[in-house]
Amino acid sequence: MSTTAFGKQGWTPERLSSLDGKTFLITGANAGAGFEASKILLGKGAEVVMLNRNAKKSKAAIKTIKGQFGKDAKVSFVKMDLAELNSVREAAAKVIEQIPKIDALICNAAVAQVAKQQITSDGFESQIGINHYGHFLLINLLFDRVEQSSGRIVIVGSEGYKMGLKTIQFEDLNFDANYHPNNTYCHSKLAQMMIGYELQHRIEHANKKVKVYVCHPGASKTSLIKEDASWATRIVWSLMSLSPMVQTAEKGAYPEVMCATEESLDPHAYYGPSGRMNWVGPVGECKLEPFVRERAIAGKLWELSEELTGCKWSF
Ligand SMILES: NC(=O)c1ccc[n+]([C@@H]2O[C@H](COP(=O)([O-])OP(=O)(O)OC[C@H]3O[C@@H](n4cnc5c(N)ncnc54)[C@H](OP(=O)(O)O)[C@@H]3O)[C@@H](O)[C@H]2O)c1
Repeated sequence: MSTTAFGKQGWTPERLSSLDGKTFLITGANAGAGFEASKILLGKGAEVVMLNRNAKKSKAAIKTIKGQFGKDAKVSFVKMDLAELNSVREAAAKVIEQIPKIDALICNAAVAQVAKQQITSDGFESQIGINHYGHFLLINLLFDRVEQSSGRIVIVGSEGYKMGLKTIQFEDLNFDANYHPNNTYCHSKLAQMMIGYELQHRIEHANKKVKVYVCHPGASKTSLIKEDASWATRIVWSLMSLSPMVQTAEKGAYPEVMCATEESLDPHAYYGPSGRMNWVGPVGECKLEPFVRERAIAGKLWELSEELTGCKWSF
């Protein structure tokens, strides 16, 4: 499916019909693209469960949403810090207990451009720890519930996947020797995307009923570049944000909402803004570099991720 399948303007939420009765889980939904995606889905009658690390920010986000959609808006949050595997396990257990149906699990949360190497309590460099390992475990723990719902998993990647090392640095996954804020972020997003396509491949071979879609939000005005980024990065990003090469956070949410809802997408494709540099423009299919689908690398990363997060897939 190409951009033209959605017309010249690409995919927009105008294509959505009622989502009444559908439940969407979104990680990192108190800000940025995840927050905007929540509002789009709620606006169509869906239920949204946010998986956020910060209770105060989550309550504020829910208050804003209820102010817009009314006090009966079906929005809630489960506390989950992707930087702590135990927190992911606790959140997943709560979800299994409380949420009977998951039409889509949207893996949206991330940290980016962390200036200095930080190590999570589980011993992972923070960007790969939060963006990849945390989500890897979460997907594993919620997979059966998604399958019982004939649901989807949406991986929010980044065009950064092709700006870093373009492969997985198995010999030093924490970048102890060559830490670089951007390369390390790009590496974590590549890891997420590789696992997304690998999961889809395994699903097809095991005849499971889940679909996995991988997308990117282009360049969007969100809070992604924050205190953890260097001053220089923050200044460059704030200047870039003033240019037409950076779009609104709301538009940045379109690809993930599309992947969570649109029928007839191709799970082997890669979706996002398809205009200038894929930073802005109509949302549709984008070119995917072949190294994302190198199965030998993806398989090795999969096995290592199982080991490091202490989870095991049954297929
Ligand atoms: N914005 C862009 O131009 C751009 C470009 C390429 C890709 N992306 C991708 O788009 C997605 C959405 O990011 P965004 O731009 O909307 O950024 P954002 O505004 O910073 O939102 C990121 C969300 O992730 C949450 N988060 C961070 N660390 C977490 C953790 N340890 N546990 C749970 N949640 C955590 C944040 O929570 P807090 O509010 O508590 O920090 C926030 O809610 C990310 O996957 C990002 O890699 C964005």
